[in-house]
Amino acid sequence: MVEPPGDRILVTGALGQIGTELVSELRKKHGNDTVLATDIREPDNDRYFPEGPFCNLSVLDGEAMEKTVTDEGIGTVYHLAAILSATGEKNPELCHRVNVGGTVTVLETARDFGLKVFVPSSIAVFGPDSPRIAPQKATLNPTTTYGKTKVTGEVLGMNYFKQYGVDIRGLRYPGLISWKAPAGGGTTDYAVDIFHAAINDGHYNCFVSEDTRLPMMYIDDAIMATEMIMQADGSSLGTSRAGYNIRGCSFTAGELADRISLRIPEFTCDFNPDFRQKVADSWPNDVDDNPAKDDWGWEANFNLDRIVDEMLENLRKNQSS
Ligand SMILES: NC(=O)c1ccc[n+]([C@@H]2O[C@H](COP(=O)([O-])OP(=O)(O)OC[C@H]3O[C@@H](n4cnc5c(N)ncnc54)[C@H](O)[C@@H]3O)[C@@H](O)[C@H]2O)c1
Repeated sequence: MVEPPGDRILVTGALGQIGTELVSELRKKHGNDTVLATDIREPDNDRYFPEGPFCNLSVLDGEAMEKTVTDEGIGTVYHLAAILSATGEKNPELCHRVNVGGTVTVLETARDFGLKVFVPSSIAVFGPDSPRIAPQKATLNPTTTYGKTKVTGEVLGMNYFKQYGVDIRGLRYPGLISWKAPAGGGTTDYAVDIFHAAINDGHYNCFVSEDTRLPMMYIDDAIMATEMIMQADGSSLGTSRAGYNIRGCSFTAGELADRISLRIPEFTCDFNPDFRQKVADSWPNDVDDNPAKDDWGWEANFNLDRIVDEMLENLRKNQSS
């Protein structure tokens, strides 16, 4: 492998739900100037990163990616740019182009410049035929375009690791719950939107049924898992290094609404499933994350009650400031 052009960090899709938080955490740890935030969009006021550098970069532009990596002295890429499940079902061609094409751009650049890479996967790799508590090793038969692009991402990642020695690491994130940035067009967005609606309107019209149970995780746990797997000794990572299952908690949409009602008694919730119900039904209820625990010591901190408390407290603080 060649030596990377430097030791700075590049984050793609940095203005999204995860990037907004990951960039801040990485900057706290490595220094503001070390982390270059990039996205195809321009930052708006809410999601601007005034503390460090930002530049426009499409993950479909391989030449621009190579130039950025060399000019900016990059050694590590966190590749977060993607089209999520609900948006992807509406525009499968775009989803395939960005998710598979963008990952190829990043992996090719990583091979040519000796970069270390984080590429997130998702619980969407599982299909209706997987056990309801999805094991790490399962036949992956997703029915959504998004899920298929995530399986392809894992396969590509393992190929670049085996054939070219690219240091690839990945996690199958569950639905992520956070308060700083809006959810980005995924099927689990209801578990974020419900908090905003509860505080602002006292009512939420949920787009999946009350008994829909999916794996979920608070953003702090997701960021911690990301940092942990990137810092793990490479020799401890097994054949799942491109997509480890990680478990946060698992609850139904009805249970989430009930926990919010306990804290906001006037809150009401209707359940009117739309096209996203079919996507949710194709995913497992929960995941088994024992390989992540065994290989690099993964353990989540946030259960449902703690997530609800954190979300309500932070959203209220944010509104009053
Ligand atoms: N948020 C979740 O619940 C969740 C769950 C499982 C997996 N993931 C995965 O984590 C990663 C990040 O997800 P997120 O929730 O932050 O997504 P998001 O939709 O909030 O953000 C994605 C970002 O990518 C950018 N983008 C789109 N096309 C681009 C392109 N061609 N070039 C550069 N940037 C582009 C968008 O502008 C956006 O800011 C994705 O790979 C996603 O599949 C997320």
